[in-house]
Amino acid sequence: MDRRLRPTVFMLLLLCPKGAILSHFNCPSRCQCFTPAQVLCADEHMTSVPKNISREAKEVIIMTSAVQYLFPTAFDESPQLHKLIFLNNPLQSIHSRAFQNLSALQELEISGNPWLEHLFLGTFSKQENLTKLQLNYNRFHTVLPGMFNALRNLETLQIKANIISDLPALLFRNLRNLRALDLSLNKIQKVEGETFSGLIALEVLKINNNHISNISSDTFHHVAHLTELHLEGNTIAELADEIFSALPKLKVLNLRGNRLVTFSDDVFAREASNLTHLDLRGNRLTQVSSLSTLTSLTDLFLSSNQLSGLPEDIFRNVTSLENVDLSENNLASLPEKIFAELKRVKMIHLHKNRLSRLESRLFQDQEFIQQLYLSDNQLKNLPLGLLDHFALPHMLRLHGNPWRCDCHMWYLHDFVLNNNQGVEAPDRMLCESPDFLRRRPLASIGRDELLCRLPEEEMTDLSGCTLRKSSDSLVIKCKVEKCSSPLTVKVEFLERNGSIQEHVWKSVHSQCSNVTISKAAVP
Ligand SMILES: *[C@@H]1O[C@H](CO)[C@@H](O)[C@H](O)[C@H]1NC(C)=O
Ligand SMILES: *[C@@H]1O[C@H](CO)[C@@H](O)[C@H](O)[C@H]1NC(C)=O
Ligand SMILES: *[C@@H]1O[C@H](CO)[C@@H](O)[C@H](O)[C@H]1NC(C)=O
Ligand SMILES: *[C@@H]1O[C@H](CO)[C@@H](O)[C@H](O)[C@H]1NC(C)=O
Ligand SMILES: *[C@@H]1O[C@H](CO)[C@@H](O)[C@H](O)[C@H]1NC(C)=O
Ligand SMILES: *[C@@H]1O[C@H](CO)[C@@H](O)[C@H](O)[C@H]1NC(C)=O
Ligand SMILES: *[C@@H]1O[C@H](CO)[C@@H](O)[C@H](O)[C@H]1NC(C)=O
Ligand SMILES: *[C@@H]1O[C@H](CO)[C@@H](O)[C@H](O)[C@H]1NC(C)=O
Repeated sequence: MDRRLRPTVFMLLLLCPKGAILSHFNCPSRCQCFTPAQVLCADEHMTSVPKNISREAKEVIIMTSAVQYLFPTAFDESPQLHKLIFLNNPLQSIHSRAFQNLSALQELEISGNPWLEHLFLGTFSKQENLTKLQLNYNRFHTVLPGMFNALRNLETLQIKANIISDLPALLFRNLRNLRALDLSLNKIQKVEGETFSGLIALEVLKINNNHISNISSDTFHHVAHLTELHLEGNTIAELADEIFSALPKLKVLNLRGNRLVTFSDDVFAREASNLTHLDLRGNRLTQVSSLSTLTSLTDLFLSSNQLSGLPEDIFRNVTSLENVDLSENNLASLPEKIFAELKRVKMIHLHKNRLSRLESRLFQDQEFIQQLYLSDNQLKNLPLGLLDHFALPHMLRLHGNPWRCDCHMWYLHDFVLNNNQGVEAPDRMLCESPDFLRRRPLASIGRDELLCRLPEEEMTDLSGCTLRKSSDSLVIKCKVEKCSSPLTVKVEFLERNGSIQEHVWKSVHSQCSNVTISKAAVP
């Protein structure tokens, strides 16, 4: 149990059976008063608001009661209230004058009333000092124009999880001090410039999880102080160029779970944006054309799209990037320089793509990476040196690839054995080929079992050759049937560290003859 809860529970147990203890606080019946200023009524048999709330009370909370109606005189005796909260009650109707004497109210919440379908005009007409109004989880279809006109000091307004489909124009025009507006989880289909006009101080706007498919290009022209914009969970398929250009302070833009097929920084103003967090997960992106003005961007989420390729310069100038999520796309390869100069990167997620090979210098600037996910791709091998640039302890995810456990695997094999803290679930890194190592964890295989066999057809070519090894030299004698001139001999030596050293000799003779080519090679 959470330690902080204990004293409260203890008090409830102590006080409940002995109502008498409460009397010196003047606590209304069916309620609890832990201090004279706080009244909590949570009685499922309470059918009306308590009449005789003490004059000392500043906060009243009425929850899980049976109160269905709020009448005009409900709070006439308590004009001093600062905070009034209704939570999870069966309210059906609130008289437009129910709160008329509560002009000192600073916080009002009416949430969780499954039968409350609307509010009458004038309900909040006396709440000039209100700073926070929460109307969540009710059944409002709409909000009447003018409903919030008196709330000049309001800073937070939440009307989330109702069933509002339409917002009147100019509904919020008097809310010049509003900083946070939450309209999420409704059925809003359209927003436009007039919807948000007047909200000159607005910093956080949530219109996520609605039915918005089309945003007109002037929608955000009146909210220049916005720092966070949540549009996730709508059905937006297209964004007009410069649609966010009036938002120079925007830091967080969430477009997750829409239907976008392309994205580019043309949606912002031309000068460098202040954006730090861009979420485009779960769209239908096949193309991301440019992000180069996003020089402050630290977090970029592009997972669960349909990207099959990215331009080499996509992150050019996006040098603040720390977290890049490209997982669950169709990427088959990545340009070698795509992460070049991104020296602050801490996390790259590339899992669940179709990557079959990586360039050995792909991560050469990611010295400070902490998390690299390459699992569930089509990788058979990793190029030599790919993982040599990392300076800090890091977490690598490599399972779910069809690893080919042959002599080219020595590099990765040694890396896994030497970094057993840094490779997640190495026992899930299984060989796919050759057959005799299939399903065996790479880490369980000895280095000398990782062999390369010459294919049959290459072997027959060597039938005319003999191989003799003496203490310090290797003699290869070959009979060559068809002779090109000049003759080139290429020998590959496999080094201990897995790299291949190639030696090439050319005969200087212009004609085919019995020649001896010799060269000292240090394996
Ligand atoms: C409030 O009314 C209830 C009955 O309705 C009564 O029991 C209680 O003593 C009253 N409290 C005050 C402070 O008047
Ligand atoms: C409540 O408001 C009405 C008029 O709006 C007023 O007549 C009445 O005196 C007020 N009651 C208290 C207790 O302030
Ligand atoms: C509203 O707030 C102002 C400033 O804090 C205060 O002077 C005024 O008395 C408050 N109004 C009411 C009705 O409490
Ligand atoms: C979106 O709205 C604009 C104007 O508001 C209109 O020109 C365009 O056709 C609309 N697009 C869709 C897909 O409805
Ligand atoms: C970024 O925000 C700061 C203030 O938060 C502002 O001064 C600056 O002009 C903004 N940058 C841009 C490019 O708008
Ligand atoms: C990166 O920024 C420089 C100067 O700020 C600019 O000249 C260059 O065009 C930008 N690169 C890209 C790919 O936008
Ligand atoms: C492997 O060893 C050879 C020399 O033995 C060296 O030239 C080469 O750079 C090494 N490769 C790596 C990736 O360490
Ligand atoms: C090459 O050398 C072999 C034996 O050393 C000899 O039998 C053969 O005739 C020589 N061929 C030519 C073209 O000189």
